[in-house]
Amino acid sequence: MEKLKKRSWAEPFKIKTVELLKMTSPEDRKKALEEAGYNTFLLKSEDVYIDLLTDSGTNAMSDVQWAGLMVGDEAYAGSKNYYHLEEKIQKYYGYKYLVPTHQGRGAEHILSQILIKQGDYIPGNMYFTTTRLHQELAGGKFMDVIIDEAHDPENLHPFKGNIDLQKLESLVNKVGAKKIPYVSVAATVNMAGGQPISMENLRQVHSLCSKQGIKIFLDATRAMENAYFIKMREQGYQNKSMADILREMCSYTNGCTMSAKKDLLVNIGGFLALNDYEIFEEARNMVVVYEGLHTYGGLAGRDMEAMAIGIEEAIQEDHMRARIGQVEYVGEKLKSIDIPFVQPIGGHAIFLDAKKFLPHLKQLEFPAQTLAAELYLESGIRSMERGIVSAGRNKETGDHYYPKLELVRLTFPRRVYTQAHCDVTAEAVEAVYENRNSIKGLEMIYEPKYLRFFQARFKRL
Ligand code: F0G
Repeated sequence: MEKLKKRSWAEPFKIKTVELLKMTSPEDRKKALEEAGYNTFLLKSEDVYIDLLTDSGTNAMSDVQWAGLMVGDEAYAGSKNYYHLEEKIQKYYGYKYLVPTHQGRGAEHILSQILIKQGDYIPGNMYFTTTRLHQELAGGKFMDVIIDEAHDPENLHPFKGNIDLQKLESLVNKVGAKKIPYVSVAATVNMAGGQPISMENLRQVHSLCSKQGIKIFLDATRAMENAYFIKMREQGYQNKSMADILREMCSYTNGCTMSAKKDLLVNIGGFLALNDYEIFEEARNMVVVYEGLHTYGGLAGRDMEAMAIGIEEAIQEDHMRARIGQVEYVGEKLKSIDIPFVQPIGGHAIFLDAKKFLPHLKQLEFPAQTLAAELYLESGIRSMERGIVSAGRNKETGDHYYPKLELVRLTFPRRVYTQAHCDVTAEAVEAVYENRNSIKGLEMIYEPKYLRFFQARFKRL
């Protein structure tokens, strides 16, 4: 008998409730996709088998979180769940003040409106769609200062989320520190493939910015995943706890915007957390205009309770090993059959390289949009375009942005799918790959003004 050599990890939970899925035929999927204008955002969830559109709000809550819903204090003002959440944020993120918001973009809106003036520049490690839009709506211009390696899907740099200090410094020299209200640092970097930023880089950015009097705001949406990568990859952090690493990361920043729908294992929620009392005062005032009173910010008391509990669950190393381990599992499978995707394997998703996958399509034939559509047709798996459609148009010239990365994201919700779902996914990608030469591109036939990828419609060429 052959010996099993390897010791595997398994999920640190068992399943108590299941949600049944509808199985569809190729004909059903063809009809559904045509009705959705070849845009996976416009599919009905019911028509999807394995939903890898996003890890946002799609997590499975624990029994303890569900129980937390029952202790929701739905008072209009001063809900006890607000204070519970505040305590956990102070403990794990280390920021002093909390302004809850309905989700991440609510926090981005408030922060951008308070800090950005017309004509300002906001450097950041690659854009995120909603973050950049709020910066632009406030009159600012986003400047990408991520290292060049991040734009190369095959480059194996362990911290592809790092900021290029020279790019940042030359921007400061060119426009002056007064025109830079803050540096926008994401951990991990979603659009680069879920790639982490190193602690060393954060420290260096902090040192440069403090000399210049420039603030730093963290997009902490997947900062716990980033902390795990630091623990795994960065010298000196192997024996530190996830909690210590997260706190150190946050200590180099003035505050954060947060979409709790990712790291924090909930279905809705977000916040702005701050160390600066003056910004907090303004944010607390503004939140009542756009979100709700400053002790609920558009959330129910129970949502804040689920978030507070989610912080404690998500910071556990066992949880994170299984979460990132699942993404790695799929990545390793795809690697073994030579599917082109962004390397190293990211934290929340596999990003298929649509340019390499469908080299016969021009960028304006929307290779990533096309690939996402084909994957759905093949097996009912829903993924997301992260290429030229997501990049949108340049506000000044009106032309498309032409991003180097033309990707399809297979995003893994936390604690939702099994290893068998992962196998089926890898096999479906393989099937589309084998058939790639016969795949035709798309034409955009409807384009909304803002964040067009959500609602754009296409037809087959
Ligand atoms: N920042 C990052 C890094 C994100 O990934 C997201 C959302 C946001 C901010 C905005 O937060 O959705 O709560 O308003 N990302 C989702 C995704 C939508 O699918 O990647 P939100």
